[in-house]
Amino acid sequence: MCGIIGYVGYRNTIPVLIQGLEQLEYRGYDSAGIACLSHKEDNLFIVKEKGKLSALKEKIGDFDVDAHIGIGHTRWATHGEPSRANAHPHTDATGRIALVHNGIVENYAVLKMAMQKKRIRFESQTDTEVAAKLIGTYYHKKTSLFDAVKQAIDELHGFFSFVLFSKDDPDTLVAYKRSNPLVVGLGQGENFLASDVTALLPYTRQVIYLEDDDLVTLTSKSVSIYSLKTRSWVKRRPTMVHWNVSQAQKQGYPHFMLKEMYEQPEVLRNILSKRLTKKGDIYFDTVNKKFHNQLKRVKQVHMVSCGTAYHAGLVGAIAIEKFAHISCRTQVSSEFRYGNPILGKDDLVVLITQSGETADTLAALREAKAKGAKTLAVVNVVGSTIAREADAVIYTHAGPEIGVASTKAYTAQLATLLLLVFSMAKMRNKISKEDFHLMVKAFKRIPEYCARILREGKSFERCARKHSSRRNFLYLGRGCNYPTALEGALKLKEISYAHAHGYAAGEMKHGPIALIDHEQPVICIAPESSTYDKMISNIQEIRARDGIVIAIGSEGNKDLEKMSDSFFSIPKAPEILSPMLTVIPLQFFAYRMAVLNGRDVDQPRNLAKSVTVE
Ligand code: F6R
Repeated sequence: MCGIIGYVGYRNTIPVLIQGLEQLEYRGYDSAGIACLSHKEDNLFIVKEKGKLSALKEKIGDFDVDAHIGIGHTRWATHGEPSRANAHPHTDATGRIALVHNGIVENYAVLKMAMQKKRIRFESQTDTEVAAKLIGTYYHKKTSLFDAVKQAIDELHGFFSFVLFSKDDPDTLVAYKRSNPLVVGLGQGENFLASDVTALLPYTRQVIYLEDDDLVTLTSKSVSIYSLKTRSWVKRRPTMVHWNVSQAQKQGYPHFMLKEMYEQPEVLRNILSKRLTKKGDIYFDTVNKKFHNQLKRVKQVHMVSCGTAYHAGLVGAIAIEKFAHISCRTQVSSEFRYGNPILGKDDLVVLITQSGETADTLAALREAKAKGAKTLAVVNVVGSTIAREADAVIYTHAGPEIGVASTKAYTAQLATLLLLVFSMAKMRNKISKEDFHLMVKAFKRIPEYCARILREGKSFERCARKHSSRRNFLYLGRGCNYPTALEGALKLKEISYAHAHGYAAGEMKHGPIALIDHEQPVICIAPESSTYDKMISNIQEIRARDGIVIAIGSEGNKDLEKMSDSFFSIPKAPEILSPMLTVIPLQFFAYRMAVLNGRDVDQPRNLAKSVTVE
């Protein structure tokens, strides 16, 4: 989704804006632009370009602009094709205001028509330009930019964040937030605004997460926040971000995705060290006693999330029914929010999200709260909107995930959900002391097992080479590895653009079996499990029809190895923990397929890291 950076201070602005945009590239975009105010000539300097940042940088070239205030934007097209004209920043009719925007102005067409009747001319197809022009109509000699935005906001419908400045005031940025995230970065003699903290990490780790309806004036020395909700000036407490710049850099890896895959053992180790007490109990620092007691009483759990996080929720649901004996439904957020779910005080809605900003998951959270359910967010990005709005939050501590395709955030979600399940099973007396301790003991071995699988990188490479030209893949799994099949298929299609379909293996005979012939690769996830024999029957059915079997099985399983065209082994672990291992060969396979097909691994076409529009 779109990325925003804003700067006011003593530094030369253009390099700050470019570096900020580089840090935001991972969000996915199709064009980019900057605007700054030339100190000497009192001129708005605006450069925009379609395509990658390199195109924008080339266009800026050696322009020597001495500017100390500016805004930058990476655009992910919603209204109007990706083009230079549609790229941000946009200006008001007089060309004094420059504005960047994330989100959607829903009533832009009506507003545009009304302004066109007043002979205001538009240069783009965007809703953003409508907002810029509308604010311009309120911006007169006696009205500050802050007041102009305050008045215009009442006319704008939708969900959006803006950052803007006027050439009349070279030391003031104005920003407004509704739904789409905006963070203030606090510096000494300089201040920043960004759509996400990674853009701020090279300069500051002291940030203020803005809340909905915050209207902000930012100068090089001050930050003033006015809440349009309470109609008063407010103080928001700064937060210290614990991520560092190097975590958000490739550190010698060719892609962020590969780096993040290799970080998984460390992420899992870190989660366990945070969550396990010396006595071997499970502990969540951010869950207070009251919420802990409520967890003991819930009668129904709902796992709600999107994409990869939804797959983590499917595993969590299987675990919670099996170990904590609580009935659990899993739904994608976009269906949950419009499905009129029946919820009450005995329901626990668990919202799982890496970014903490996904629009559908946020809407689902608000729906659940409005209906009186307890809400628990399982989130990676500290301080994100969903983390702040839920009744309780558990952080997954995966560190910044930059690759658009989620890898370490997924294994971190799995680990966190499973620990939550075991802790709930224990507090409700559904698991014996011995079984609990055995499970914790087995859990502690998972990071090393994960590292062992990662050391097998070369064999995934060979398998991917063999199949790199194929365009259709079927993924099969059962039980808690059915979600692994879905996740493996999602990884492959999103970064290699090959078609891949995840299926519950038992469903194969109800349709997909028609696909099987000598050209159809089928990835079968078959570690030791309660349904292992059933998986083997499915594999035999595939072989009987000449299908190509790529199997993931337990170490030492020679029978399965013989049955397969390619075989990847994973160390033996309790079935419920195995999804943290079985997914790794699938991430690797997808990664290698994407590289071999020359795809843009970290920023696949049409995708965005944080989906903040519906
Ligand atoms: C896939 C992927 C997406 C996200 C989904 C939810 O690799 O990354 O499917 O999982 O957009 O995002 P979050 O977890 O930020 O809510």
